Amino acid sequence: MTKKIQIAIDGPAGAGKSTIAKIVAEALTFTYIDTGAMYRAVTYKGMQQNIQLDDSVRLEEMLRQTEIKLQPSPQGQLVFVDGENVSDAIRSNKVTSNVSQVAAHPNIRRILVTMQQELAANGGVVMDGRDIATHVLKDAELKIFMSASVEERARRRFLDNEGRGIPSTIENLQEEIALRDKLDSEREASPLIQAEDALYLDTTALTIEEAATKILKLANEKMM
Ligand code: DC
Repeated sequence: MTKKIQIAIDGPAGAGKSTIAKIVAEALTFTYIDTGAMYRAVTYKGMQQNIQLDDSVRLEEMLRQTEIKLQPSPQGQLVFVDGENVSDAIRSNKVTSNVSQVAAHPNIRRILVTMQQELAANGGVVMDGRDIATHVLKDAELKIFMSASVEERARRRFLDNEGRGIPSTIENLQEEIALRDKLDSEREASPLIQAEDALYLDTTALTIEEAATKILKLANEKMM
């Protein structure tokens, strides 16, 4: 029997984490957990309830009374907030441009990190985010830090948005990605940094399949 390891994949927006993590999880019959979706879910509900997103106390009160459920499906991970399927709504431009603010609150991070650790407790997971290797799953058997150039990441987001029917331009996306990188890597609480024991994978010139194959090879070595 193969060992049910934990695979942590961190990196900036648009590096290909979720697409690649999903393929890796499927190939290994592991569970894929997109932690960014959890920060997005909190942002979405906070906005729905007209809570000021800099008010971490009210956001925490709200979160403590919220049920966030992640459910694997053939179309990818579905996200439910209090039973409502918000999988598409959490990808809107509005949520995307506000989520960094919510993700910067240490009290919100503490609650979500505990949930993430519980989800991964039995192993057999591929979890993607920004602080998975450095905070959430410090003992993960395989840690990958994935990145790509800002230009390439903007191009990928553009195609992704097109597929989802979300209007955007490459120029705006480049600016937005650069700003989000800055906010995510300069924030005080769990900034986006490469863990010392993580392997760096630059996906700028790699296809999705090539990147997934590299990770699968590393995972199989860890599971032997
Ligand atoms: O991966 P994403 O674009 O869906 O992430 C949404 C936001 O949440 C992004 O601004 C970074 C933040 N995030 C985080 O701070 N920690 C995580 N583990 C995952 C995402």
